[in-house]
Amino acid sequence: MTGTVNNIPTAPHIRREVQRRRTFAIISHPDAGKTTLTEKLLLFGGAINLAGAVKAKKTTKHTTSDWMEIERQRGISVTSSVMNFEFNGFSMNLLDTPGHHDFSEDTYRVLTAVDSALMVIDSAKGVETQTKKLMDVCRMRNTPIITFINKLDREGRAPLELIDEIEQHLGIECSPLSWPIGMGKSFQGVYDIQEGLIRFFRSDGNKNVRPQDTVTVFGLDDPALDKHLGEAAADLRNEIELLDGAGFPFDHKRYLAGQQTPVFFGSAINNFGVRELLEGFTSLAPAPKARAATTREVSPLEENFSGIVFKVQANMDPAHRDRIAFVRICSGQFNRGMKLQNQRLGKHFKAANAIFFMAKNRSGVEEAWPGDIIGLPNHGSIRVGDTLYSDEPLVFPGIPHFAPEFFRRIILRDPFKAKQLEKGLTQLTEEGAIQYFRPVTGRDYILGAIGVLQFEIIAARLADEYNVHVTYGQLPYQRVRWLTGDIKALKRIAEQNQQAIVKDADDCMAMLFNSDWQLTKTTEDWSDIKFIDTRECVLS
Ligand code: G4P
Repeated sequence: MTGTVNNIPTAPHIRREVQRRRTFAIISHPDAGKTTLTEKLLLFGGAINLAGAVKAKKTTKHTTSDWMEIERQRGISVTSSVMNFEFNGFSMNLLDTPGHHDFSEDTYRVLTAVDSALMVIDSAKGVETQTKKLMDVCRMRNTPIITFINKLDREGRAPLELIDEIEQHLGIECSPLSWPIGMGKSFQGVYDIQEGLIRFFRSDGNKNVRPQDTVTVFGLDDPALDKHLGEAAADLRNEIELLDGAGFPFDHKRYLAGQQTPVFFGSAINNFGVRELLEGFTSLAPAPKARAATTREVSPLEENFSGIVFKVQANMDPAHRDRIAFVRICSGQFNRGMKLQNQRLGKHFKAANAIFFMAKNRSGVEEAWPGDIIGLPNHGSIRVGDTLYSDEPLVFPGIPHFAPEFFRRIILRDPFKAKQLEKGLTQLTEEGAIQYFRPVTGRDYILGAIGVLQFEIIAARLADEYNVHVTYGQLPYQRVRWLTGDIKALKRIAEQNQQAIVKDADDCMAMLFNSDWQLTKTTEDWSDIKFIDTRECVLS
């Protein structure tokens, strides 16, 4: 039987599929254990059957998500991939975010396509810079976050101190659902606060998947605790008491609102605490939610298909010279060969060869549901930020461009390759790999990036994919802002600052600044102009 949400038709079979979907990303500072945890999750999901298949990317040639030469050379995963696996009847979509020290717009965009995140923290290091940056992005959309404090098999910081640091530095309440018993050499396991269980850590030394030993205790006063834990029982009691006094009881609503994070402790490499994390995750994390379009809120349960393109990847696999648009399905059922409309172009197309991703493998999509990520091969017609729909015209906003913080002038080695350069830069920009700006006076290309590694990647990709060789010249700029406001004021500021005024790839006006001081001063001097640091994709 068909139902309605806000008078829009919905279907029970869609509800069934939506409720079992979990679309999420893992966020962490490099080396906290994201890759290791990903691998363990995939092992549980049966998506891989060999420990080391994901980790191998750091050392061997055949990797799970390295599509490009530079990834192999540097041993890093530059591009993001999507991994789908099943667990306890749930269909999990794990979106990988670049795991290197650098940061790109891609990372931000991936986070706009997920319903929740898993945050991995190294117990010895606590909150690190990248964790904080990623958390800020999650906060923009109140993304619910579950925390996994990793590497308890090593000497780390006191757990109460870590909890306090997360709360202070990331501005989120912590509600531990498990608590570690000792650490490093004296690590005995965790106390499962909700279940009243001790889960013993008995490493078999082989880092293999193995069942956990558990003992049920009846409250913290149970003498069985002393029998099993010895002196550590007293410490556990003290710590839980402190936690009860100062911590936050778990509140599902606050978690869903992004105000509280449930915390699990474990050791990814020893596969300790991972199953509990995954079980906790599937029961707590939200299924796909309604998404705001410009005209109304769109429920995932609606019969009509809609989706948003959050990422475009060119030449992902040298064996398939194509561009893939990554679409997050927002509502309705997707069927192979269905007719879709691209809102920006006002054009229909037949989605005949959509693909699912399983790391490096692709498979044809017969059907897909809200929360799923499908890839649509195309020749450049689909762009980041595009809304695709089957029936009702919709526009989903919210794939932002962030103001870059690093700038380089492109120097073309062979001036006869100017056309190729333009083509390459346009495509790489549409993909969201980089942003470029052109001075209103002059013919230079100024590249803007959020992390400096992007420049290296762009040079490598221009050479590899477009046969254009470039080097970079330094520039004094540190900030860029898009300008909007009173037309006359915009004209005047452009006349008075010709050198610093640029246009981006979508022809939007922006201004470059040498320092924060200069930016602040200019902002004060031009009160009828807005200086914007985040711009949503122009849907022209
Ligand atoms: P990342 O993707 O977040 O960058 O981290 P990754 O999983 O690659 O883990 C970083 C390092 O931390 C790896 O060591 C990994 O083996 C180790 N690690 C991950 N989880 C745990 C854990 O629970 N306990 C301990 N003790 N170590 C852990 P590496 O030496 O850089 O690489 P490898 O030689 O082990 O592959």
